Amino acid sequence: MAKLWRGVLTEYADLLPANLTHNIVTLQEGGTPLIEARAIAEQIGNGVSVWLKFEGANPTGSFKDRGMTAAITDAKNAGSQAVVCASTGNTSASAAAYSAQAGLTCSVLVPQGKIAMGKLAQAIAHNAKVIQIDGNFDDCLVLARKLAENYLVTLVNSINPARMQGQKTAAFEIVDQLGRFPDIHCIPVGNAGNITAYWMGFQEYCRKTHLDTDTVVTTGTATAADAPSKSPALVGYLNGRGVGVTISRTNASDSDTATDHTANAGSTANDTSVVTEIHSATGTVAAPTAMWGFQAEGAAPLVDGYIFEHPETIASAIRIGNPARAEDALAAVSESQGLLDKVSDTEILAAQKLISNTTGVFCEPASAASIAGLLKSAKKGLVPANATITATLTGHGLKDPSFALQDSTGAALKPIEAPNYLTRVATLLGL
Ligand SMILES: Cc1ncc(COP(=O)(O)O)c(C=O)c1O
Repeated sequence: MAKLWRGVLTEYADLLPANLTHNIVTLQEGGTPLIEARAIAEQIGNGVSVWLKFEGANPTGSFKDRGMTAAITDAKNAGSQAVVCASTGNTSASAAAYSAQAGLTCSVLVPQGKIAMGKLAQAIAHNAKVIQIDGNFDDCLVLARKLAENYLVTLVNSINPARMQGQKTAAFEIVDQLGRFPDIHCIPVGNAGNITAYWMGFQEYCRKTHLDTDTVVTTGTATAADAPSKSPALVGYLNGRGVGVTISRTNASDSDTATDHTANAGSTANDTSVVTEIHSATGTVAAPTAMWGFQAEGAAPLVDGYIFEHPETIASAIRIGNPARAEDALAAVSESQGLLDKVSDTEILAAQKLISNTTGVFCEPASAASIAGLLKSAKKGLVPANATITATLTGHGLKDPSFALQDSTGAALKPIEAPNYLTRVATLLGL
């Protein structure tokens, strides 16, 4: 008989804080597929493999459910009766669904006219109080924070630490499903909660499997030294926000004390690899996975190094100009020897089409930023040979199907019309 998946808080209870492991509010989220994308790997070449973590298979169709089971469980256990969130759409759908299950009142603040219809429908269907604000997501988040500070309502955006606890389980699942740590994990970045949670998850799983090591060594990519994590814009942004991230790099051949304790030993380590040593005495333990985060060009505050007052992109889920978890995301990229880059709307839509045409997975535009970024990085020569690469597809394409019904010029893609007549249909089908 098939095993019943019990939701992420029960499945990974031993890796979660105790307050999240009783009276759990769950829709049995998680346990999502990790699908090999052979055609995309072939396009990149060089012996790489690419795997898609399809978070659209969660109960409300996005990765938010992992964090929301935790945030709503925590709110309920703390005696809260009402929750609030700001949202580009998916958080509102998830918060509404989990609140319905928990019997809590849910209020959501969304930017007026800026969220996909499917997501709005979900929030309304689950009986949330939906308020459209005359402003963007960042304005909604400021309001939601103030509501939580001044009224009896719990904020369930990703600044709520319980959200990170739930979302980090996706990293555990990837390692479990793959049987090893990926060399590179690609992920879209908006408010920057998810990249933060994945990095937390990879680190914790690494720590769990390497508890007895004094020095943990990660293999980076051959070109990690060139990654935008060193860009002046990024350093300026870090300094501006008062964040100090120290990166120590040594060349593999210089590192005679380097012991490779990683699960993927040897797969990317070679003479040209950059090796980072992070001593556990400093409190930082590395994982053997480089975090590659991708923003949309019109909403790329972490890449360009300044806040976007008026973020714009067709990928509405990542249309965010001032990410709440900016520092954590930048630390994740720096500590993992990863990279941050931006992709154009054209690249995002082309990647969405490539994914749906060649793998059978339909993701929403924001999700495709992870593959768009991977392909862009491959063109720049940043992807090392034989790398095992995972990418999160954050949400389901059915939530926001509008762009799938257009070609690259924006012209509508319509089904062919035909009479109810066999030979005519056969002719149209080329049979
Ligand atoms: C589909 C989708 N992808 C990516 C993101 C970005 O995630 P984060 O805000 O945690 O960076 C979001 C956030 O709303 C999303 O809904």
